[in-house]
Amino acid sequence: MANSGPFQLGDRVQLTDAKRRHFTIILESGKSFHSHKGMISHDEIIGMPEGSVIRSTLGSDFLLFRHLMVDHVLSMPRGAAVIYPKDSAQILVEGDIFPGARVLEAGAGSGALSMNLLRAVGEQGKVISYEIRQDHLDFAESNVDEFFGGRPDAWDPRLGDLKEVTADDLGGPVDRVILDMLEPWECLEVVRDILIPGGVFMTYVATVPQLMKVMEGIREQQCFTEPRAWESLVREWKVEGLATRPEHRMNAHTAFLIWARRLTDGVTPPRPQRRARK
Ligand SMILES: C[S@@+](CC[C@H](N)C(=O)[O-])C[C@H]1O[C@@H](n2cnc3c(N)ncnc32)[C@H](O)[C@@H]1O
Repeated sequence: MANSGPFQLGDRVQLTDAKRRHFTIILESGKSFHSHKGMISHDEIIGMPEGSVIRSTLGSDFLLFRHLMVDHVLSMPRGAAVIYPKDSAQILVEGDIFPGARVLEAGAGSGALSMNLLRAVGEQGKVISYEIRQDHLDFAESNVDEFFGGRPDAWDPRLGDLKEVTADDLGGPVDRVILDMLEPWECLEVVRDILIPGGVFMTYVATVPQLMKVMEGIREQQCFTEPRAWESLVREWKVEGLATRPEHRMNAHTAFLIWARRLTDGVTPPRPQRRARK
């Protein structure tokens, strides 16, 4: 699928009606989109610029845009809960996912984070995604392949338990490790063994007991910096004259993010010396 330019065959296009309802189609020659508001031929859309408006046979207007990654993530079929865009954004920036990076991810789940990681590492990078469940891996693979229009060369999805993985299995250590699973503390020794010194480790957990357990586990390894933990809250606003205010509804909680960096073996990090309180 192209990312810009006039619409082409194979593009995933979102049609939005006056009530802001979305309908997604994949452009195919000779096909048409039907709704109770009339018919639109795919061939009419091919060649139009993005952001155009098209009129159906019954006179209804639809706005045309390509499907963005965020639209795909929020609408694709799921085996497991996805990492929401606000949290993926935090992972990409705080996790310092750079073009060319070698990233280990587990579990692949529905493939939402895999897609974001693949975009960030680019064609020269590598994303190795472990998933313990075949049915979830099937969702991840079909969602990623569908979004990119085929299997990205940079992606290596694998069926397996991260607890059993070694650096040799990965062809050497990785630059970044991102975990989104129920019990990440069970994989901390693996993370220690596969992450390069200076590498960034992030994990994503939904509950306070998980947060406490993984923070303690990271400290016990004694090969990471003091871990940081935070959550991100995103609140949409309605902006309409005197009615301008935050939206009433929001996703108040998704999960906590935890971040640490791998030390070189055998070092003890300097700790801040606190003055005794009088
Ligand atoms: C919440 S989902 C991950 C969602 C994914 N990050 C996404 O954005 O679509 C958690 C996944 O971790 C997998 N999992 C749990 N323990 C695992 C392990 N030890 N090794 C590999 N995968 C594991 C589960 O089967 C599940 O599919």
